[in-house]
Amino acid sequence: MYMYFVIIICSVVLMLLLLKIYIKSTTGWCHSQVCLKGKTVLVTGANCGIGFETAIDLAKRDARVILACRNEEAAKEAVDKIVKETRNDNIVYKLDIISNEKHIDILINNAGAGGLGNTVSEDGLLATMQVNYFAPFLLTNLLLDILKKSPSGRIVNVASMVAKNAKIDIQKLNEFKGDMEQYGRSKLCNILFTIELASRLKDSNITTYSLHPGVVRTELCRRMPYLMRKITNFVIETFFKTAPEGAQTSIYLAVANDIEKFNGQHFHDCHLVERYPSCNDTLAKDLWIKTEKILKQY
Ligand SMILES: *[C@@H]1O[C@H](CO)[C@@H](O)[C@H](O)[C@H]1NC(C)=O
Ligand SMILES: *[C@@H]1O[C@H](CO)[C@@H](O)[C@H](O)[C@H]1NC(C)=O
Repeated sequence: MYMYFVIIICSVVLMLLLLKIYIKSTTGWCHSQVCLKGKTVLVTGANCGIGFETAIDLAKRDARVILACRNEEAAKEAVDKIVKETRNDNIVYKLDIISNEKHIDILINNAGAGGLGNTVSEDGLLATMQVNYFAPFLLTNLLLDILKKSPSGRIVNVASMVAKNAKIDIQKLNEFKGDMEQYGRSKLCNILFTIELASRLKDSNITTYSLHPGVVRTELCRRMPYLMRKITNFVIETFFKTAPEGAQTSIYLAVANDIEKFNGQHFHDCHLVERYPSCNDTLAKDLWIKTEKILKQY
């Protein structure tokens, strides 16, 4: 009995180690040395996880970095940490962006949530759908004019590979069918949003991209019970991607030269991937129109 137990544990550890080697060898790194002096970047959900690592990297490139976060205290702490580590003191936490900024060059829609169950927001929208999709849709649209003032604005949408197998019924965007289903649907919406946004912006100087960051330790686990969260985070942190690794594709899409020809497309590990079978232009268009209708009610 004991013997079996040891064998099982050893196999699990061996599998995780092989997985770690695989992930280490396939993780894409952004090698660009691009300097962002004079550019303004806005990162949502930048107080922790890959949002924080993205903000740090862009701060090191001398950008003005605006952290848009839900929790003021956590955001201010993150600002202090970034200033200390990068010696770039042009890092701010604020919410009144449109009236105060001359231009935004890069918008990174990074904030995301999962495990919210069938909680609904004040507006009656499913919370996961609101945080992951409706909010970035609205924010992006509100910031378009100020992004157009940049000579080459970029919008980077952090999605996920779970969208590959997700399904969407446009008439039932706000219907709860389980946590995983809702998460996948919201991430599929991010990718479809990117496709339609690129098409709507094709005559502007703004381009947009979506990405899968990999399995990363993030604050998605924030809502799990304490011990389960600790264990999950330990396993993910040890065997999957670290937050700086997970941030690479966001950073790449924010800074890399000559990617404008990939406007509207999807990336893994700092390289372009084929469109997921779950996505097409018609669906993207229909989703946009339906989303506008939903958001106009508020
Ligand atoms: C858009 O890009 C073109 C070509 O690079 C440039 O000439 C033009 O000034 C840009 N527009 C803005 C608003 O910066
Ligand atoms: C687009 O995707 C939807 C949903 O998967 C599907 O019903 C529709 O047939 C697809 N349209 C095209 C043109 O591929």
